[in-house]
Amino acid sequence: MNELDSWEARWAPYDEPTYQSVLNNIRPDDVVLDIGAGDLRLARRMALMARRVFAVERQPALLANQESLPYNLTVLCADARFMPWPAGITLGVLLMRHCTHVGLYAARLRTVGCRRLMTNARWGLAVEVMDLGQRRPWQSVDFGWYACLCGQTGFVPGPPEQLTVDRMDQVIETENCPACLRLQKADFPI
Ligand SMILES: C[S@@+](CC[C@H](N)C(=O)[O-])C[C@H]1O[C@@H](n2cnc3c(N)ncnc32)[C@H](O)[C@@H]1O
Repeated sequence: MNELDSWEARWAPYDEPTYQSVLNNIRPDDVVLDIGAGDLRLARRMALMARRVFAVERQPALLANQESLPYNLTVLCADARFMPWPAGITLGVLLMRHCTHVGLYAARLRTVGCRRLMTNARWGLAVEVMDLGQRRPWQSVDFGWYACLCGQTGFVPGPPEQLTVDRMDQVIETENCPACLRLQKADFPI
């Protein structure tokens, strides 16, 4: 298993617009898995809006001295990569800009039947909602930007005369890119 990157292992809160973009996408019937929940500041707010929130954080110090928890917030002090995940998750939340395990978390969410992952980890920028359903094979992208299920993003070069503004603005959602295999080997060693 890939080690945690030193930035990935650290706690730091995000700004209010980042939290708002997550909260704007919470549905009342959501069962949320908050991966790397920090000091629970976002998990507590999500619990006000969702059916249930499971918050996973590996640093016990961040979970100590908490005020009483809402009835629908369950806190798990563990490494999210290794622990068994609860059933019935409908939304993964991964606010961790330096995360190097997007592929592992996306694959595990898919396995438990979850189809949405809200994260800032793929582009390292704003929050996006990743659709975890079936995607285009990377091999079929002949030109343009792609964003893969494994967390990899990139640009497949093509003839300059075919470059249009629309093509530059479009991002093709893929799976099975060349990085997928490398990450699978690191995260799911046989
Ligand atoms: C940048 S902080 C963000 C905290 C929180 N998501 C927020 O937005 O307020 C990332 C957190 O993820 C935790 N973390 C990183 N990898 C983890 C893992 N594999 N399992 C559980 N927690 C993890 C770190 O300990 C840290 O607290």
